[in-house]
Amino acid sequence: MRIFAVAGSRRSGSLNRTLLDAAVAIVRREGVEVEVGELRDFDMPLYDGDLEAGSGPPPGAHALAAKITAADALLLASPEYNMSVPGVVKNAIDWLSRMKPMPLRGKRALLLSASPSLVGGNRGLWALRVPLEVLGVHVFPEMYSLAAAHEKLADGAVADPLLAKLLDGMVLRWLAELRRSAS
Ligand SMILES: Cc1cc2nc3c(=O)[nH]c(=O)nc-3n(C[C@H](O)[C@H](O)[C@H](O)COP(=O)(O)O)c2cc1C
Repeated sequence: MRIFAVAGSRRSGSLNRTLLDAAVAIVRREGVEVEVGELRDFDMPLYDGDLEAGSGPPPGAHALAAKITAADALLLASPEYNMSVPGVVKNAIDWLSRMKPMPLRGKRALLLSASPSLVGGNRGLWALRVPLEVLGVHVFPEMYSLAAAHEKLADGAVADPLLAKLLDGMVLRWLAELRRSAS
């Protein structure tokens, strides 16, 4: 079983990228192979039907599609922008959705978010579920949203023991589901 992990932020010092690291550490501890990608390595222009008709999806979309295709499951940590999905994330999904075969179909995904706010980006994850599920991704019912993340993350981990335990338990339940679906 192989997991591809990516954060929906291009920012150095991203809270979501740090939360992703915390989840990736749990996955690795459980002996599951996981590759971490950087969103900025999959640069792509805004979706443009003329561009698509002329030259097809851009190289960044092909590169991201290759990572997704090579994985059984996706670990995604995405910020919430204006109570919804960040444009860069939605743009990547839109390009991927135009590819044949469509790389997201049938993948399993776990969604995480981190925000300095007290809601933790959870509304953004509900918005993110919509295009993912429409495209055939099996999104794990449980989601993890870390509120006041600028105070709760330290050294690539969730510093608060109770919140760290909640993340641990959720990742373990997701891995158990991945193992069940693979057998
Ligand atoms: C355009 C924009 C919109 C934002 N909207 C929200 C929001 O609706 N809810 C929220 O909790 N935080 C919002 N934020 C704050 C982000 O949660 C915060 O910048 C966070 O650190 C972004 O994630 P990152 O650290 O992984 O880059 C917004 C930030 C930006 C730049």
